[in-house]
Amino acid sequence: MKKIVVYESGTGFTERYAKWIAEELACDAKERKQVTAKELSDYDQVIYGGWVMAGMISGYKKIKAMNLKDVVVFAVGMTIPSDEVVAKLTEQNQIPAGKVFYFEGGFAPDKLGFFKKKIIGMIKKSIEDKPEKTEEDLYMLETCGGKDRTKREAIADLIAACK
Ligand SMILES: Cc1cc2nc3c(=O)[nH]c(=O)nc-3n(C[C@H](O)[C@H](O)[C@H](O)COP(=O)(O)O)c2cc1C
Repeated sequence: MKKIVVYESGTGFTERYAKWIAEELACDAKERKQVTAKELSDYDQVIYGGWVMAGMISGYKKIKAMNLKDVVVFAVGMTIPSDEVVAKLTEQNQIPAGKVFYFEGGFAPDKLGFFKKKIIGMIKKSIEDKPEKTEEDLYMLETCGGKDRTKREAIADLIAACK
């Protein structure tokens, strides 16, 4: 079965997962902007990864519009992984059920532009202002301070689903 990993990554965390997945599946990993719909239509399976911004998986809409045969999606974000996160991503991004995997990314303030840094600053402030913080709040605060939570072992279920 001919496979390819395609990804969109702002600061490198999604790219790292894309390369790990490609290594495990012994296939190529390419940036979304480097591939065309025509090229991707030659593959039996496309594994697409995007980073999460306000619940949306970056670049996925463009991949969806290509109407490819089989697309498995991975999303990389900064919330604690759970079935609820996967369900929300599935619904909000309109992805077929069972085709989404969620991985913990990280936050690299040095690599972010002014506006994105500002948004994160606002999110951080709103959490800091809460009188009582949940586990998720504390996790987000720690991540927003600059953290790498990527773990190679997190891709195991996706690899099993793609083999
Ligand atoms: C402006 C902005 C908005 C974000 N919104 C979300 C979000 O809604 N949910 C989430 O889980 N992560 C969110 N994140 C965190 C990123 O998805 C996370 O930092 C990810 O690891 C970035 O991956 P990349 O290095 O491939 O760009 C946001 C990050 C930025 C900069």
